[in-house]
Amino acid sequence: MRIQSPRGTSDVLGDAALAREQLEGTARGILERAGYSRIETPSFESTELFARGVGEATDVVQKEMYTFDDGGGNSITLRPEGTAPVCRAYLEHGMHKLPQPVKLWYHGAYFRSERPQHGRYRQFWQVGLEAIGSDDPAVDAESVLLLAEILEAIGVQARLRISSLGTPDTRAEYKHELQDYLRAHEHELSGEVRGRIDLNPLRAFDADHPGTRQVMAAAPLLLDRLNADDREHFETVKRLLDGAGLAYEIDPTLVRGLDYYTRTVFEFTSDALGAQSGVGGGGRYDGLIEELGGPPTPGMGWAAGVERMLLAAPPAPTAPPPLDLYVAHAKPEYKDPAFKLAADARRAGHSAQLELGGRSVKGVFKQADRAGARYVAILGADGTTLRDMESGEQRVVDSDTVMHHITHGL
Ligand code: HAM
Repeated sequence: MRIQSPRGTSDVLGDAALAREQLEGTARGILERAGYSRIETPSFESTELFARGVGEATDVVQKEMYTFDDGGGNSITLRPEGTAPVCRAYLEHGMHKLPQPVKLWYHGAYFRSERPQHGRYRQFWQVGLEAIGSDDPAVDAESVLLLAEILEAIGVQARLRISSLGTPDTRAEYKHELQDYLRAHEHELSGEVRGRIDLNPLRAFDADHPGTRQVMAAAPLLLDRLNADDREHFETVKRLLDGAGLAYEIDPTLVRGLDYYTRTVFEFTSDALGAQSGVGGGGRYDGLIEELGGPPTPGMGWAAGVERMLLAAPPAPTAPPPLDLYVAHAKPEYKDPAFKLAADARRAGHSAQLELGGRSVKGVFKQADRAGARYVAILGADGTTLRDMESGEQRVVDSDTVMHHITHGL
């Protein structure tokens, strides 16, 4: 049996690789122009980071982590998300001493042991940002705007939903209120929702079960229970988004799969994606740094799935990178100078490829054409035959002058 890539993973090659590179470049441009700098954290972390950061009760921690012993008795987990690792790095490098907020962006692979389907993989890539150290609602609005800008730049049409979860205290009180409400309607709920009343009653808003949906339509909403500060914070976020002309819907039932959120939460969804419609999302996490052992520090961020953005985007025209020179030799004796010519051309800043397939002269031209070469040099007994592939002009030139010709023309 031939070995295949593990379920839920895929190889990225050809046009797909180019499309990813373009997406990363677009995101980098937009985020760096807004003052975000790149951070890279390890692909694996202590399991405890995610247990504490993401939350024991979440699906991610309960069912989806790739966790293993590193052989030395340490429990290690392949990162399922990037926020907890970035907050760990913020603390580890004393970034609270830098001017706040510290604005970081990332692009990398993440791992969740989910059931694979269209748009849902076990290894997937995220572009994301975290702005740590400010509770200014402008941070929230600006970061949402940046994701909207990236999606627009790559042609993804997405719907934006936002809400506010308030503070943990408001949420805890509301949770009790909701639990009481759900218990009062217990017999109308699905078994799954009933089983989660104690652990995660908010998830009931996500249910497809008709009876549950009917109950939830009349359920108390967290958005109606926010304290004055949180309400004002949310109003400012909305006002800034309005001012920027970004359309959104307020969705008081918006629940995110991770536990660290406070105040603003948001999600972009695309109809082009089917069941896994979440293109990107995030929110504020004002308690997370403290949860990880740091001082009280507010934070805000988001992540967007690279595969999902590309699935939702129209295919971008992908031109192969330009090739200045294709070098071949007509006789075995000219192998070494041909090799040297290609290397010299690259050293001089040109793009150059060497014929490596043992092709005939006819085959060389065919391959050079396929590779989009501007010039072809074939080294032989009579000198170097140089052809301008654009004009079709061909001349035998002195091999020392090849570089001059490919810069200034034949
Ligand atoms: P998340 O909503 O869990 O948030 O993931 C963000 C995005 O990653 C999703 O919207 C989706 O596009 C993509 N994604 C998640 N799981 C998969 C999967 N199995 N296959 C393919 N794509 C997937 C977070 O991860 C938070 N860390 C975002 C954040 C940053 N919040 C604050 N700061």
